[in-house]
Amino acid sequence: MTDTDAGATGDFAPDAALHRAFEVIDANIETFGTRYPADTTTGSVYPLRPATADLPAGSNYGWTTSFWTGQLWLAYQLTGAERYRAAGVAQIDSFAHRVEAEIDLHTHDLGFLYTLGGVAPWLLTQDERARDGALAAADHLMTRVMQPAGIVQAWGDPAGDPAERGRTIIDSLMNMPLLHWAGAQRDDPRYARAAVAHVSQLRDHILRPDDTTFHTFYWDPVTGEPLRGTTQQGYADDSCWARGQAWGVYGFALSYCHTRDESFLVAARRCARYYLDHLPADQVAYWDLVFTDGSGQPRDTSAASVAACGLLELAAWEQDPAEQQRLRAAATRMVASLAEHYTGAAVPGSNALLLHGVYDWPSGVGVDEGNLWGDYYYLEALTRIVRPDWAPYWRAA
Ligand code: GLY
Repeated sequence: MTDTDAGATGDFAPDAALHRAFEVIDANIETFGTRYPADTTTGSVYPLRPATADLPAGSNYGWTTSFWTGQLWLAYQLTGAERYRAAGVAQIDSFAHRVEAEIDLHTHDLGFLYTLGGVAPWLLTQDERARDGALAAADHLMTRVMQPAGIVQAWGDPAGDPAERGRTIIDSLMNMPLLHWAGAQRDDPRYARAAVAHVSQLRDHILRPDDTTFHTFYWDPVTGEPLRGTTQQGYADDSCWARGQAWGVYGFALSYCHTRDESFLVAARRCARYYLDHLPADQVAYWDLVFTDGSGQPRDTSAASVAACGLLELAAWEQDPAEQQRLRAAATRMVASLAEHYTGAAVPGSNALLLHGVYDWPSGVGVDEGNLWGDYYYLEALTRIVRPDWAPYWRAA
């Protein structure tokens, strides 16, 4: 891949990209069964999720297991093939059990986990256990609401982790659809009120005046005053972590979808504008938007796949046909570039849809590897392109 490739969509064949994705997913069903791959590849190959002190290898813990599940549901919707439905159904119990047994629940990521691990199977199979698990996860997420700031604490045990008290992160925007869904299911306005309060704080503080975003932001846990922005996975506190900006595009657009609050649409547009203005020639962002072609830094293909979905979501809510077309074209260019240059097909034996993502550069974790969320959102972006009428799980109410 050179820095000078144009990122055009010339030979892009989404059906061929999907065909390859299904082959990889078929092989991974054989490899993993009802167990889960690790967050990221190692040497371009997903190993089994490692054992912990309490859990055997392949267990359902961490924030990324549902991105494998979500690939199965997308594959089922795209093909109607029973093997994907069966593999998805086989995971319903795992997610229901996880929330019942309170396994690794001290995280805002319950939205990622249970939108794909509970809401999606509920929508597609009407399995009550999937719905119950997702509702229980939403209730757990509600226990993370910190007053008086009205934010959802991102990490740590809200009752027992003072260092994380009052802190949230831009990624959390993607966890709010679970609250909207639960509130609609239960006809209870408290869930949506919590989501709107949280997203409003992010709109006002995590989104900076120059349209960049902080990765994380602290509020005073006693007074609720906004304190300071910092990074965790970006290059610097004042830089713009590429995946965070992509979560901003998608998450604010989804908040608009659930609320029709115009200020969230404006926030999504601002994130999108900055992201698109800071892309390299081939449209696949470096892991932090401070880096440009010639920097020698790794790209983050997962930022590109999240951003593509976010741009397509934003396009769905824009009224101006020319703007819709501009956003869809930008998203399609990114996905075309991913399909042409960044899939696991380039590395024999790889079981990833995409390679060349970055999980956490400052910690040296998953750098220039594939990752489960990059794969999921790549497949979601392809789904959105070939099926423009597909109903995203994140919009469910
Ligand atoms: N939500 C965690 C990440 O994007 O790395």
